[in-house]
Amino acid sequence: MADSSSAEVGFLAEMGGILGAAHCISDPDLKASYELDWTRRFGGKSLVVLRPADTAQVAAVLAACNRCKVGMVPQGGNTGLVGGSVPRNGEAVLSLGRLNKVLSCDADLGLLVAEAGTTLAVAQKAAAGVGAELGIDIAARDSATLGGMVATNAGGIHVIRHGPMRARLAGLEVVLADGTIATRLSGLIKDNVGYDLAQIMAGSEGTLGVVTKVAIHLVPLPRFRVTALVALRGPSQSGEPAEAVRAVSELAVALALRVRRRVDGVDAIELVFADGMELVREVAGLPAPPDPGAGAWLLVEASGATDPTEMLAEAVDGAEGVSEVAVADEAAGRSRLWAYRERHTEAIATLGVPHKLDVTLPLDELAGFTGAVREVVSAALGPEAEGSRVVLFGHLGDGNVHVNVIGPEPEDHRADDAVFNMVVARRGSISAEHGVGIAKLAFVGAARSPGDLAVMRRIKDALDPSGVLNPGVLFPAS
Ligand code: FAD
Ligand code: MLT
Ligand code: ZN
Repeated sequence: MADSSSAEVGFLAEMGGILGAAHCISDPDLKASYELDWTRRFGGKSLVVLRPADTAQVAAVLAACNRCKVGMVPQGGNTGLVGGSVPRNGEAVLSLGRLNKVLSCDADLGLLVAEAGTTLAVAQKAAAGVGAELGIDIAARDSATLGGMVATNAGGIHVIRHGPMRARLAGLEVVLADGTIATRLSGLIKDNVGYDLAQIMAGSEGTLGVVTKVAIHLVPLPRFRVTALVALRGPSQSGEPAEAVRAVSELAVALALRVRRRVDGVDAIELVFADGMELVREVAGLPAPPDPGAGAWLLVEASGATDPTEMLAEAVDGAEGVSEVAVADEAAGRSRLWAYRERHTEAIATLGVPHKLDVTLPLDELAGFTGAVREVVSAALGPEAEGSRVVLFGHLGDGNVHVNVIGPEPEDHRADDAVFNMVVARRGSISAEHGVGIAKLAFVGAARSPGDLAVMRRIKDALDPSGVLNPGVLFPAS
């Protein structure tokens, strides 16, 4: 903002006029939860937290921000893990929490339309009510919003079957920085009239516009769904830790490929290791998994119009390294198995403030990466590695490994840099599904060509010429 305090007072008064005083939060205690991200690694003070009720209010707020040059951070459920959802430098926070209605949900049209602040769980419930599902799921479902999931192009546990959020997206309504409202909500599968607005917004992390409504393609609820937790023992389980992790990861990759080849309708292939399993069991108080002494577990889920249990059993039985399997085909049993995987994030957070390094590796590089990553982090941290921990888990089916480093101070990026360099050298991606935010700015240049970056920059400049939307995210602040 033009830094005179009278301009600030004028802006806040205008916000009060648009939203009503109750929805312009200035009290530091009430602002606090909007100012710190889920990991507790990122955050800063905000000018004000604004809570619009509808698209028209969002448009009026943005037009004023643009005119007054007030930086604006869009925020949904604040479950983002790369620092893009919280203020850094006195920006205003625009919370979409009050735009939370499911507007329509029709299994025949295969379409759900909802306001952007609707949580994933609420949208899932609406879809289930008409015998359908969204084809996308993440463990943060109770807080993460559809708008935030579009903005981050969220991935999650069903990407290998249905793709990430951009593949589920049938359209959206978005408010641009100057208050222009653009709407593309027909949900038609065939509709080739120019640029694809929804796809430009997917993965834009709040830098191009504020999503106010989202249309999502539905898929029919399957008649059968089965989940298996498969314990794997590597050949060198008692040898060098790095070698043991590499060896058991190789078994996991081989099993994942075998399952993909032999089983129809695979929804999820997820991987956890022995140290993560122990931590989750301790924090969440979970009972022993199959083969409690295993080196890793692969969680496999498949679904369809016919029962996939037999096909899955045939793929898993006799596969190298499999020591024990637990299977469930009803909701309660399946969520008991999923808990070992899904509760990793909260369990890791109890160890301290995590550096969350969400990366993808080509499958032929994955085992080498998981085996070597701890040593690379140790070398980067030097003597301070002593008090640090690295916990790995991820969506093995699509090569996505979540590397969690606990120990380094939030602003210490030596471990982050070492891991990202390793990923770039192995032809991987430094952001599989969480986005760039402010956490990975230094590596955007290594991940995208100069031509790519020039196009991104021109789109940003065209849609947000004053740079008020999420300044400092995706592109370094100018
Ligand atoms: P926020 O955190 O509020 O914001 C995220 C980004 O989107 C910010 O840049 C923000 O400015 C922008 N934004 C938010 N709303 C809008 C809007 N309406 N218009 C424009 N921009 C907006 N992510 C995955 O991809 N896969 C997972 O499996 C996964 N699992 C998770 C599990 C846990 C326990 C947690 C805590 C997080 C997980 N995440 C996962 C990360 C997170 O949930 C996703 O990134 C999610 O998409 C963020 O949604 P949100 O509403 O919380 O967005
Ligand atoms: C997950 O897959 O559970 C998430 O992406 C969250 C995390 O990385 O902790
Ligand atoms: Zn994930």
